[in-house]
Amino acid sequence: MEPLRFFKKSLRALNTAIRIRNGARVPFRITHITTTRCNLRCKYCGRWNSEKKDMSTGEILSAMDEFSSAGTRAWDFSGGEPLIREDIGELVDKAYELDFSCVLVTNGTLLKERLADVKKIKKIGAINISLDGPKEIHDIIRGKGSFDRALEGIKYAKSKGYKVHLSSVISRENTQKGCKSLFDLFDIAKGLDCPIYLQPVYNSRYNHEKFPSLIPDEKDHKKAINLIRAFKYDNPTLNQTSERTLRWFEGAFSDEQKWDCLAGRAYAFLFPDGVVAPCFFKEDKGINGLENGFSKAFQMLELPDPMCKCMITCCVESNFQYGLSISEVEAQIKRFFTNK
Ligand SMILES: C[S@@+](CC[C@H](N)C(=O)[O-])C[C@H]1O[C@@H](n2cnc3c(N)ncnc32)[C@H](O)[C@@H]1O
Ligand code: SF4
Ligand code: SF4
Repeated sequence: MEPLRFFKKSLRALNTAIRIRNGARVPFRITHITTTRCNLRCKYCGRWNSEKKDMSTGEILSAMDEFSSAGTRAWDFSGGEPLIREDIGELVDKAYELDFSCVLVTNGTLLKERLADVKKIKKIGAINISLDGPKEIHDIIRGKGSFDRALEGIKYAKSKGYKVHLSSVISRENTQKGCKSLFDLFDIAKGLDCPIYLQPVYNSRYNHEKFPSLIPDEKDHKKAINLIRAFKYDNPTLNQTSERTLRWFEGAFSDEQKWDCLAGRAYAFLFPDGVVAPCFFKEDKGINGLENGFSKAFQMLELPDPMCKCMITCCVESNFQYGLSISEVEAQIKRFFTNK
């Protein structure tokens, strides 16, 4: 990102954080679950089980306009698999036109054929490709052949000059045997020169009655966090998860840990059918933006119970970032200077 653009964006983010601290509700960051359709069937996910009607292209473009007027500056395209949507290129173009910072979260398997459609992402953000371990572990979780296809997508996007990040879920599968697979994953990240964003597995609201939990026991969870921390200090440009976020993950099993969650005040999730909800876990508390207006739906959201906690990485980082945590702001500045 050019220095002037970065400076302007940082000032805007700071201004919003101060407004939020003073009680305003600004939908600064929207995580858009563009569809629940997907070409994979990952063991911990199950979003594909949900039969939701996707919004039309026109409806999403209007939602983006409305959110932009309400103060949105960051838009994450997720899913399901966002590259399954035929119109994903049009949606990314709109994000570019509205000057949003963007992340496109994908399983990477369709990237080679669809990358040209989403070319504007190169100017406004990064592609986050899910990689959960070395081939044998990734394929156990995500299906046979998915590792090779994701790797092909990563290499292709990098060869075309896109900023590529890896999104990796810490689960029972990759923390077994002394977390050997996490070491392998870090080696892969180093070899590819791709920063990793780590996400502790959660019991998805879509799957937890259908599949056994993949949450590791407390000992393995803590060991994994310690390894991530060690990797971060040896490779600061490759793992930029802030220390504050790691500490939050570390305390996940403790009742002592509390925070001021900004879901519904600084960010929200937009579901495929137009429902605006505070976060992924609170879809049942959502309000339909198509019926009420998107900005209004955001303002109408019930605020989180003060005891509510989770480990959804994007929410954790947003809570610390817009809550003005110094170490998170520092991590953001580092990301800029290392261009990762
Ligand atoms: C739901 S996927 C959507 C984007 C795309 N299909 C992909 O797999 O990257 C977004 C991210 O959520 C992660 N995810 C899915 N289910 C999860 C769970 N139960 N716990 C933690 N992360 C999960 C995925 O690994 C992926 O990195
Ligand atoms: S994690 Fe992503 S790729 Fe896997 S099933 Fe869920 S939406 Fe599909
Ligand atoms: S703590 Fe997590 S689950 Fe609870 S409202 Fe906030 S983001 Fe959602």
